[in-house]
Amino acid sequence: MTQLKSLLTKSIKQKLTVKQDSFFKKISDQGIALTYDDVRLTTGYSAVLPDSINIESKFSKNVGLKIPIASAAMDTVTEAEMAIEIAKLGGIGVIHKNFSPQEQAAQVAKVKYHLNGLIEKPICFDENVSIGEILAYRKEKEFSFHSFLITDKNYRLVGILTKNDFDFCEDFSLKAKQVMTKSVITGNPSIGLREAYRVMKESKKKAIPLVDKDGKVAGLYTFSDVKRILSGDSKSFNVDKNGRLRVAAAVGVYDDAFERVESLVAEKIDLVIIDTAHGDSKGVMETLKVLKKRYEVDVVVGNISEPESAERLCRAGADGLKIGQGPGSICTTRIIAGIGKPQVSAIYECAKVASKFGVPVCADGGLKYSGDIPIAIGAGAHSVMMGNMLAGTKESPGEFRFHQGVQYKVYRGMGSLGAMERYKGSRERYNQGKNDLVPEGMEGMVPYKGPLKEVICQYIGGLRRGMGYVGAENIEDLRAIAQFVRITEAGKAESHPHDIVITREAPNYRERV
Ligand code: IMP
Repeated sequence: MTQLKSLLTKSIKQKLTVKQDSFFKKISDQGIALTYDDVRLTTGYSAVLPDSINIESKFSKNVGLKIPIASAAMDTVTEAEMAIEIAKLGGIGVIHKNFSPQEQAAQVAKVKYHLNGLIEKPICFDENVSIGEILAYRKEKEFSFHSFLITDKNYRLVGILTKNDFDFCEDFSLKAKQVMTKSVITGNPSIGLREAYRVMKESKKKAIPLVDKDGKVAGLYTFSDVKRILSGDSKSFNVDKNGRLRVAAAVGVYDDAFERVESLVAEKIDLVIIDTAHGDSKGVMETLKVLKKRYEVDVVVGNISEPESAERLCRAGADGLKIGQGPGSICTTRIIAGIGKPQVSAIYECAKVASKFGVPVCADGGLKYSGDIPIAIGAGAHSVMMGNMLAGTKESPGEFRFHQGVQYKVYRGMGSLGAMERYKGSRERYNQGKNDLVPEGMEGMVPYKGPLKEVICQYIGGLRRGMGYVGAENIEDLRAIAQFVRITEAGKAESHPHDIVITREAPNYRERV
């Protein structure tokens, strides 16, 4: 019975996929490309309840997502604070590249150290280092934790500095060996998460260092992190196999990429994105090939909007593609350079090719409302990347501004004049030198929206509702069965609230600024 049911489902899915293909074929045969406001999804028979829908997906071949949302690699959107919060909500943040390589790696480390299952390379200090020096290092790196392992000159564990040791220390010139706790319960390197938890609970120790047969440090478990992972509070977190939050980072081409990736890999980055305005280019292709040869890390490449570009990059070894040339809210590329393709058609055409290679695609930019998420995924995306829709949250690095009594946050394009004048990373994204800058983006501000958690709750709520209307139980279903209808200007006007003076704002709808 179950087998019959799944057979029927498969054949229905195939029929619907063919229908979806014929919709887009008819459009492209007329030389037309569509974007979000041009289409809506049609409703279908549904036996699914929005809350039981599975929205797990993939960002790249080997990096999963609990929710299909990534935060953009922009200096007003994603730094460590945003990356930590979005990973806790199930998505992934991409740390921008207007940081120096060292600063960017430090941001990644902050995310990876925020929540640890097994810390493979815990921070260790020599027993002769002073408490003052350790505290200064902690401050410089902005670490939130207080447990540091202390070793002798042969790197053998001799003690541990805990929060209590720091709190009760009144003379910061004392050496670590004079302040540290010497009675440490250790484990051997093969000890698992559960066993570590049991030992810490029984011994009432907040940390358990792992040491090898020579007494050298081989890892560390801390109680709060292990408890959080095992207690299920973290079920929604997007974590790697060691229980650490997932994070990505943007890199340029050639030496910029090689230098950055070396230090990013050392911090256990989950994936890197070769982030350029024109992904289908010689520099990107050559950089991709070198990175794939040198490292085991997933490499996502962008941005593109043509199926031929998708094919070339998949063949060159890309583990994921980022689609979008010109849809961004701060983007002027299509106006300045006259190129680009409306986003829904670009997603569909690129995803169609990428799926033959098993390469996930991310729809980057141009989303305005939660309803655009099921549309992007219905057109073939595995995830969406947002700048504007996340820039107004508490966790974004953009500055606050007040304008006519309303609170805003600064949001600007990475190719805006301000960003390009100041940062090499921005100029390289748009392949430009220091002089005669030709901006491809704007600087502005977006309304303040409050904590990311509340904002994402609405976006995911919209996605689930959309999937419920379509009858899709999971992301793959939605990609296969979504049917599109093209709408007119009148249809678009009818879709928004009309003929009413809005007296109360809804958390998921704003009139466009
Ligand atoms: P948004 O979500 O519509 O605001 O679009 C965000 C996306 O726009 C980013 O993820 C980038 O791919 C892209 N982007 C960022 N800065 C610029 C720019 O200055 N010009 C063009 N595109 C940009």
